Amino acid sequence: MSLKSILDHLVAHEERYITELCDYSRIPSVSAQSSHAPDLRRAAEWIAERCRLAGLTVETYETSGNPVVVGKTPKHDPKKPTFLVYGHYDVQPPEPFELWTSPPFEPRREGRNVFARGISDNKGQHLAHLIAAEAWLQSGAELPCNLTFLIEGEEEVGSKALYDFLPKHAKALACDAVVISDNGIPSLKHPALTYALRGIAAIEVRVDGPNRDLHSGIFGGSLDNPAMVLCQLLAQMRDKKGRITVPGYYDSVQKLSAYERKQMAKLPFNAEKYRKFLGVPELFGEVGYTSEEQRTARPTFEINGLTSGYQGEGSKTIVPSWAKAKLTLRLVPNQEPTQVIAAVKKHLQSLCPKTVKLTVKHGHGGRPYLVDPSGPLAQAALRALKSGFGYEALLAREGGSIPIVSAFKQHLKADTLLLGMALPDDNPHSPNEKFSLDAYAAGMRMSAHLWAELSAAS
Ligand code: BES
Ligand code: ZN
Repeated sequence: MSLKSILDHLVAHEERYITELCDYSRIPSVSAQSSHAPDLRRAAEWIAERCRLAGLTVETYETSGNPVVVGKTPKHDPKKPTFLVYGHYDVQPPEPFELWTSPPFEPRREGRNVFARGISDNKGQHLAHLIAAEAWLQSGAELPCNLTFLIEGEEEVGSKALYDFLPKHAKALACDAVVISDNGIPSLKHPALTYALRGIAAIEVRVDGPNRDLHSGIFGGSLDNPAMVLCQLLAQMRDKKGRITVPGYYDSVQKLSAYERKQMAKLPFNAEKYRKFLGVPELFGEVGYTSEEQRTARPTFEINGLTSGYQGEGSKTIVPSWAKAKLTLRLVPNQEPTQVIAAVKKHLQSLCPKTVKLTVKHGHGGRPYLVDPSGPLAQAALRALKSGFGYEALLAREGGSIPIVSAFKQHLKADTLLLGMALPDDNPHSPNEKFSLDAYAAGMRMSAHLWAELSAAS
């Protein structure tokens, strides 16, 4: 049995794999919303069962949160290298529903795309790896490595349970490298090995004013307005040149080397197309950096949500009692989430007037990730990408975060190879998320090649 017969098998069974992708994506496993707890459990059961069907030995672990599924290829051979494939079965909330062309949990196929929440981020991507592993196991050929699949259900809310799980199961999860496909590539003709991710720090800011909403005619003008104070505070966090004004914010930011900037400039990018795709009148970003650098290699300060006062129909003349903002900061090497959060908190406190009460709470956090792409495993991964997608693979940084990646380094002492299958128009976290069936097929082929390439390079 050869790799060719494994690849033929993948082509021959494509329709079945598409049906399975749709079945998996039909489960509304939204980790941010507690009402979906039973669906998260169902998604864990679905992927555990699919791992079993593929020939893996599977255990589902209860945690403080959603279950963690671990599947292993049978007959673990200590003489062979071991690779760990990580993925997540939880998905982002689908709201606002009205912006979806078809319901988010009723997968809709249109040509070579399937639309559904979570199909690209991340169900389709880890399913592609699982199917490739199954094709190897069923081919009769000897898999040149041991594989461990680790699929969790809280990635979209900060991976809390997995952080506790990892050190406790470090021995069982020991591996030579981690493989993750939970990210993107510039296009089907530009597959890429991602060697850097941004980190993240989540913060909630609350400004409290009067003990109740007040008539703005009777009281307005004689006390401060919490919504105004919050807006004024937040508006001071970034200057007109797109620089974050928090003292010390850039202190530990590693400078981009001239070499890296040159490489990044080679990635396909058209500013006007990008502007149109985003639907904005003009692009904005930190002066002195290209869009690609701004969105992958520079830190940010984003307001994710703002709430205060009356948002219903018509008008309501009040001074609101409180105002709240949800923030996330994207971090780059070598920024530390805890240090950055402390600096932001201090700055907000120093600027806040005495007329209101300010509360700053921190949420989840994750370190940025950067790995040297010149090592033998990275080179092997580049070859597998080329074989799978049929085009030379690039090196890329990405702006999203997968916080658990640095915990893999810490507890398993393993580097992570990020081999994305998502396309720039897949709409992760947005309405009308989709996954390309061509990327799905190329991802399976890439994964089939990967185990041979990585094992030979180990
Ligand atoms: N798949 C993404 C991460 C990603 C997206 C990496 C694009 C590279 C490029 C992942 O599911 C995700 O959305 N992560 C969150 C992490 C957060 C909730 C801690 C993110 O980046 O917002
Ligand atoms: Zn996501």
